[in-house]
Amino acid sequence: MAIREILTDKDPALHKKCHPVTQFDEKLGLLLDDMKETLAHANGAGLAAPQIGILRRVVVLLDNNDEMLELVNPEIIAQEGEQDGLEGCLSVPGYYGFVKRPMKVKVRAQDRSGKWFEAEGEEIVARCFCHETEHLDGHVFTEHADRLYSAEELDQLAEDRQGGKDR
Ligand code: NI
Repeated sequence: MAIREILTDKDPALHKKCHPVTQFDEKLGLLLDDMKETLAHANGAGLAAPQIGILRRVVVLLDNNDEMLELVNPEIIAQEGEQDGLEGCLSVPGYYGFVKRPMKVKVRAQDRSGKWFEAEGEEIVARCFCHETEHLDGHVFTEHADRLYSAEELDQLAEDRQGGKDR
């Protein structure tokens, strides 16, 4: 296993449509293992293959039980409700934006042996399902955010809101 370099959204790989996985072989297993190690090392919530320069439809993410889920050729098959919250990306380090997403999402995906399964996520995990599957079509969350905030600006925003409450 190896930790791979995470590309930023300035890299063309983050803006391309990824190809479906057709070979469920040892190479795919190694890619998934490397992605999981890279995600854990970066302390992130999810990672898509194009973020490490691999244009294949492969995602790893943390589910509602904090377990790392492997999604090959994932598709969102159902969604429900709405949430508006802060989102970030390992490929956009240090910046966050408010993005509307569904509150609940159901995905269909294959595992590393090619077997199809369904998975559900709520709140932050539903957000992650949407964010990561979008990466596979060359999209980054910043496209949905009105503006981006640095961590410092977010601290200031939280303080201002807190101040408002006290008065
Ligand atoms: Ni991302």
